[in-house]
Amino acid sequence: MIHTTDEEYLQLTGTYEDAKEIMLSRLNILNHNLYVKPLGQPVHNIQDRIKKKESLEEKLTRKGKETTLENAKHYIQDIAGIRVICYFVDDIYNLVNTLKKQTDLVVIRESDYIKAAKPNGYRSYHIIVGVPLYYTDGMEYFPVEIQLRTMAMDLWASMEHRILYKHERSGREMLAVELKEYAENLLAIEEKFEQYSVGKMNAENALS
Ligand code: GTP
Ligand code: MG
Repeated sequence: MIHTTDEEYLQLTGTYEDAKEIMLSRLNILNHNLYVKPLGQPVHNIQDRIKKKESLEEKLTRKGKETTLENAKHYIQDIAGIRVICYFVDDIYNLVNTLKKQTDLVVIRESDYIKAAKPNGYRSYHIIVGVPLYYTDGMEYFPVEIQLRTMAMDLWASMEHRILYKHERSGREMLAVELKEYAENLLAIEEKFEQYSVGKMNAENALS
């Protein structure tokens, strides 16, 4: 199997780093301006990462591709990743809808695992956007994967990732059943909080 050298990896990830920084700035601007001041901000916190070399090679191999720079660029769309943790489900859709109005971005792929959770209980909104990078001799789009979640969704996904997703262990099936139940409990709690979201509060004010 061919392996990318450290130098090649850095050459590849440098441009994705740039695309990620642009998206982080845009998300921060949206966070500061989406709602008027007294209502608060939609984002609790933002995390970001560039896919590690080993993880990139593992994913290419899993897809049956040689681990070359060209294949990484062509087949892997989550080299640059951003995770936006919001307070309310409302905030997620407000952010996504506003982001989609930025006409220089292209939407490459979108999965709404909030409307339809994965069978294991995983919920999040995934959107892969193409971010334009301008060079002296032209422009190229680079994909950035953005995962938007509430704190409840993030609690579940982080715990599931920690104790199940990547680990071999006995009793996986029982653990999966248990995790599914926790996902349902967290969803119920999240729904109770939702009455305090910006949209719901505004609707209430409009009625009174
Ligand atoms: P990948 O090949 O893993 O990228 O899957 P995909 O291209 O089909 O995309 P998908 O939207 O299903 O998942 C992309 C990312 O979402 C993963 O890399 C994880 O970060 C997250 N994710 C998806 N499913 C799960 C899950 O069941 N549990 C957890 N903890 N995270 C998940
Ligand atoms: Mg993916």
